[in-house]
Amino acid sequence: KMTMKDLDLKGKRVFCRVDFNVPMEEGKVTDDTRIRAAVPTIKYLIEQGAKVILASHLGRPEGEFNEDMRLAATGVRLAELLHKEVKSLEESIGEKVEKEISAMQEGDIILLENVRFNPGEEKNDEELAKAFAALADVFVNDAFGAAHRAHASTAGIASYLPAVSGLLLEKELDVLGKALSEPERPFTAIIGGAKVKDKIGVIDHLLDKVDNLLIGGGLSYTFIKAQGFEIGNSLVEEDKLELAKSFIEKAKQKGVNFYLPVDATVASEFSKDAATKSVNIQEIPSDWMGLDIGPETVKVYADVIKNSKLIIWNGPMGVFEMPAFENGTKSVAQAMAETSGYTVIGGGDSAAAVEKFHVADKMDHISTGGGASLEFMEGKDLPGVSALTDK
Ligand code: 3PG
Repeated sequence: KMTMKDLDLKGKRVFCRVDFNVPMEEGKVTDDTRIRAAVPTIKYLIEQGAKVILASHLGRPEGEFNEDMRLAATGVRLAELLHKEVKSLEESIGEKVEKEISAMQEGDIILLENVRFNPGEEKNDEELAKAFAALADVFVNDAFGAAHRAHASTAGIASYLPAVSGLLLEKELDVLGKALSEPERPFTAIIGGAKVKDKIGVIDHLLDKVDNLLIGGGLSYTFIKAQGFEIGNSLVEEDKLELAKSFIEKAKQKGVNFYLPVDATVASEFSKDAATKSVNIQEIPSDWMGLDIGPETVKVYADVIKNSKLIIWNGPMGVFEMPAFENGTKSVAQAMAETSGYTVIGGGDSAAAVEKFHVADKMDHISTGGGASLEFMEGKDLPGVSALTDK
């Protein structure tokens, strides 16, 4: 694929798709990680003398204007980070936008309004893609977090302009791609989260790659039940029991060490004030529920992490939003911080966890993609990447 470096960008209007889909409260950005992650590309474009037209989605406004999902606050934050004016527009296509762009000087930055206010965005509508393309000379995609979406501003537009990757997109593909294609070994994946349903693809694909697979979180109880143990009131997906068995079988065939929790922190109810205790995984009381991996499991998992050369983590080990059930996730985060292996955080909740437990700066790579890094780890093609121009 072509990258920014393959093009002369001086004086060019660049439509740069970023992922500024960030958490906000009361009109202010509460986590600017994704905005900071886009800064290197934006700075590069400025240095090259491009006219930078930024585009992003925010939330899921379903094709309609929504006052609470306007992008201006992200522009304010970006301006602070760059020490430079960022002009936020009220629309993303149309005459007013064209007029603003025609007045741009080299190095200027415009932030278009939320592209998902257009009904055509998520439909990857051809007319909308053409309208975006008409605003610019070059398309730069730096929105790794949205690269799994085939939308007008992530994929469609690439048919009508030279379309290249930005630095963040390149880095994400490079790190995740190398990890999966030429991993240092032992290679360990840690998969957690609430549901098996959301992790089927990633578990299946990783079983072809890893040496160790550590399972935690709500989804582990389906595996534990599949092995014939009682799990009380813990989360379970009855329709995934056979699948869980088949994964354990596949692990055996592939020689992958498949780790399930050996103990759990259980609670009398789903509440931060519930009575709790740690029990052997085969002894979950019938009216209790497992909400975290237990201390013995933590020891085993920390040891595997310590002895791995490459570790990828996706999904929390328990309900870490509640202090009573944070220990598993916190301990895994700490083990990740301490290992000498290369550590990759695959987006979403695990990224939030390493932030929360103050070890984010100890990780080698924290992906800015949630769904996107998951789909990448499932071995799927990302439409936002496939659409880019080949060399
Ligand atoms: C994300 O936050 O994962 C991306 O920005 C994509 O958002 P979406 O799931 O609404 O498409």
